[in-house]
Amino acid sequence: MAVTIKSEREIALMRESCKLLADVFHRMEEAVEPGMSTMDINIIGDRLIREHGCIPNFLHYNGYPASICVSVNDEVVHGIPHKKHILQEGDIVSLDAGLIYKGYHSDMARTFGVGEISEEARLLIERTKQSFFDGIKMAVAGNHLHDISNAIDASISRYGYGIVTDLVGHGIGTKLHEDPQIPNFAQKRKGILLRPGMTLAVEPMINMGRSDVEWLDDDWTVVTEDGSLSAHYENTILITDGEPEILTMP
Ligand code: MF3
Ligand code: CO
Repeated sequence: MAVTIKSEREIALMRESCKLLADVFHRMEEAVEPGMSTMDINIIGDRLIREHGCIPNFLHYNGYPASICVSVNDEVVHGIPHKKHILQEGDIVSLDAGLIYKGYHSDMARTFGVGEISEEARLLIERTKQSFFDGIKMAVAGNHLHDISNAIDASISRYGYGIVTDLVGHGIGTKLHEDPQIPNFAQKRKGILLRPGMTLAVEPMINMGRSDVEWLDDDWTVVTEDGSLSAHYENTILITDGEPEILTMP
């Protein structure tokens, strides 16, 4: 599949889709507190998406059974919300959500602390976020896709964390997952040339320990193999002639 270049009309729709998602996210974040279940977060997120007149794009995607991915501690991504999974003080929780507005998809993720968290957990979250920003410094028309990957890798490698390699970022538009795939680790090849009008979901997933992950028996939840904590930070961005526009941070 070819990488799509969005028209001005499509870019306007992507902007609106992402803006609505950012609002949903802001309000989900405010709701996170010890004692609530991961299903409570899903219910809140699903309701907010629908209140905006949008559709949760994760629900039923390849059979995924919820609207929000809620991944706690050693869960990397795609945690399935459950009413018996209660958030505890000191947990870290990764929320990943997306929606469809007038046919256009948005996608973003953040990791939050539940109440007070350890200093090492705080640093993992902060450095994961920083690697996104270091990566997208390279997300400029005329650069190559893997300049982003290499910059994320360089940002993280000094800490001895494990960069998840089994999952990658992606193009996004009229589908949740479009070409190209966007690795978060150093690449030998340059990758495609970045052009204005490309919309990309850049999403480093970083483990405190080793990079290896495994899938639970529910066929969705990805966990770290060594049981270490994992953090996720994702935005949908637009490639322009200048700096990238972070559409999910309006
Ligand atoms: N946000 C995820 C991604 O970036 C998508 C979740 S897959 C789903 O690819 F099935 F949970 F929707
Ligand atoms: Co994504």
